[in-house]
Amino acid sequence: MPMASPVAVIASLVFYSFIASSTVAANFYNDFDITWGDGRGQIVNNGQLLTLSLDKASGSGFQSKNEYLFGKIDMQLKLVPGNSAGTVTAYYLSSKGSTWDEIDFEFLGNLSGDPYILHTNVFSQGKGNREQQFYLWFDPTADFHTYSILWNPQRIIFSVDGTPIREFKNMESKGVPFPKDQPMRIYSSLWNADDWATRGGLVKTDWTHAPFTASYRNFNANACIWSSGSSSCPSNSPPSSTSNNSWLSQELDSSNQERLQWVQKNYMIYNYCADTKRFPQGLPFECNTA
Ligand SMILES: *[C@@H]1O[C@H](CO)[C@@H](O)[C@H](O)[C@H]1NC(C)=O
Ligand SMILES: *[C@@H]1O[C@H](CO)[C@@H](O)[C@H](O)[C@H]1NC(C)=O
Repeated sequence: MPMASPVAVIASLVFYSFIASSTVAANFYNDFDITWGDGRGQIVNNGQLLTLSLDKASGSGFQSKNEYLFGKIDMQLKLVPGNSAGTVTAYYLSSKGSTWDEIDFEFLGNLSGDPYILHTNVFSQGKGNREQQFYLWFDPTADFHTYSILWNPQRIIFSVDGTPIREFKNMESKGVPFPKDQPMRIYSSLWNADDWATRGGLVKTDWTHAPFTASYRNFNANACIWSSGSSSCPSNSPPSSTSNNSWLSQELDSSNQERLQWVQKNYMIYNYCADTKRFPQGLPFECNTA
């Protein structure tokens, strides 16, 4: 019997790692490493749950083992309950280097009963300054909710429980750099940012409530894994029948456009594209979409 060529073996390994990451029940041991916090980050329940904690001495964080170049990435988070003022839970994708790309969710804590702020940003080639902030339409500390990033070559869509809250389109043809060449890892951290996070830094972290804990579960990445300079989603071959790559060209249909408008109208509290004071020379180009 002829031996399979090494190339075929590697190709099938890459293929199966893509399938595995997209269909097998999430296991944090397989997909993530706790990277800092000296024991404050933990994977428990046979890999089904990950927790980060923060006390006066340190926060904690984790990162994905894989790098991705495009994906539809879902994670359920349950944020620090009670008095979480001063704490920030950051959950984001980022590449490396001085001209990095980054897609951010940041959850800014608050006093008990006061609303968290969900802060979002998009960096391309090291340049951000594209903040949009939202209140949520539920208490993000009472239960797990799903926070998703759809990142394909045409657009980035941030969603909460399947409702799109923000879209950043590829406008490279108009000279706005778009993240599409640099693979990114998933990162998350829980840390103290009481110099700015809550009411602009007026409310400080109350350490008598420490440790603060945020929890993660049900990670799902329908994504192209980047490894040794190549992608698990070959661009020039049709998607295999067992994988569903429709997210690679997904866009907002009219009902999702409406839901996006609903969120932006009722829950958006800051939009850099409306901040004319901040950009006296004119709004960033991607803001002029009309
Ligand atoms: C905290 O609550 C105050 C008062 O309701 C609100 O102005 C602020 O936006 C909330 N969120 C943060 C992170 O400061
Ligand atoms: C692929 O996924 C999309 C939604 O992401 C769904 O609408 C479609 O039916 C799926 N197609 C197949 C063949 O499973």
